[in-house]
Amino acid sequence: MHIDKKPLDSWRLAAESMISQSSVWEAIMGLQRASKSARDQGLLPECDLSRDGSVFTVRMAAPDEVEVAHNLFCQHLAANEVEALSRFRTNLEGAVLLGKLTRYRLFIAIEACTNEIVAAHAGFLISMGKGQSVFVGTYAATRNTHRRFGLMRELFTCSLMQAAIDAHVREEELKLVVGDCTNGSETVWNTTGRKRIYVPTGTWTYREVAFQQSSLEFHRATGLPTEEAGAVTEHLMARTFGCVLDKLMLLGAVRAIYAWSGKRTTSDFETCAAFSVYKDHFKHLIENFSKSLHHGAGDIILYSAAERAEKEGEGYSFE
Ligand SMILES: CC(C)(COP(=O)(O)OP(=O)(O)OC[C@H]1O[C@@H](n2cnc3c(N)ncnc32)[C@H](O)[C@@H]1OP(=O)(O)O)[C@@H](O)C(=O)NCCC(=O)NCCS
Repeated sequence: MHIDKKPLDSWRLAAESMISQSSVWEAIMGLQRASKSARDQGLLPECDLSRDGSVFTVRMAAPDEVEVAHNLFCQHLAANEVEALSRFRTNLEGAVLLGKLTRYRLFIAIEACTNEIVAAHAGFLISMGKGQSVFVGTYAATRNTHRRFGLMRELFTCSLMQAAIDAHVREEELKLVVGDCTNGSETVWNTTGRKRIYVPTGTWTYREVAFQQSSLEFHRATGLPTEEAGAVTEHLMARTFGCVLDKLMLLGAVRAIYAWSGKRTTSDFETCAAFSVYKDHFKHLIENFSKSLHHGAGDIILYSAAERAEKEGEGYSFE
């Protein structure tokens, strides 16, 4: 009997995707079970980690450690992807958005034998409305000398635990984690369950949903992005907890990201016209994202690099 493999494979991927969309604490425990590092605290975001005889303390950065972590991001990420230290500090203090304090949480890994910061991860929890929140990963870097020790994976797990706690305190449910990735870091985020986002554009074709990181700096006089800080196209990645990601939810999350990035007020600009130009920057980004999201009529689907390669082997193509 001839069985058409295509619908079965699609169902398998959809089923796997549904199973993996468990609640956030189940996901955290899953990340800990799959980890090659031992934690001295399983239920707290701050802990000591040991792996192959090396020990690292993983915790939130103290104010006098912020600059070192920021330097690490500057050294390993593109210049137009990292905001100035002063703004980074302001974002650590946070701002009230949709009635909730929203702030960066900066986790660092400190090598026990040298007492040096060797990896850092920053992100923020933000409301999407209806009692739901999304954790957005913003910056991640590990020193060249300390890569493949599982440090970023562990820092991400810590950040996710902290975000789940913060969401609980805010009486919200953490339903989603999103973050962008470079080509080089996709597989790292895949190990945390995050995957790139696609829409079907035909029977055999998918297109990645295009996401642009907003500009980081703007001219006070005109409201336009500064020349060196234009919007950057990124690969957005997502993982849900206890729900299936649909277009409406993703659009809500991206709106929340832009609300955070575009939170400057009229007093940050010389004229109301400049402020209006600044606001338009974010309006266009949301419009572009919505257009890309609705390019294909079907539901969005998440693929890891390995799953994409498998689909390509079956004849599918990804734009
Ligand atoms: C991306 C980056 C932060 C990863 O940091 P890291 O601490 O080395 O990552 P981890 O060791 O936690 O990697 C977790 C898992 O991802 C996978 N992985 C990591 N690096 C990989 C690589 N270069 N190739 C393939 N898989 C890789 C491995 O499965 C690894 O687990 P394992 O070594 O236990 O098998 C680091 O490479 C970096 O700073 N890059 C430059 C800045 C950057 O791109 N930041 C990310 C921006 S989105």
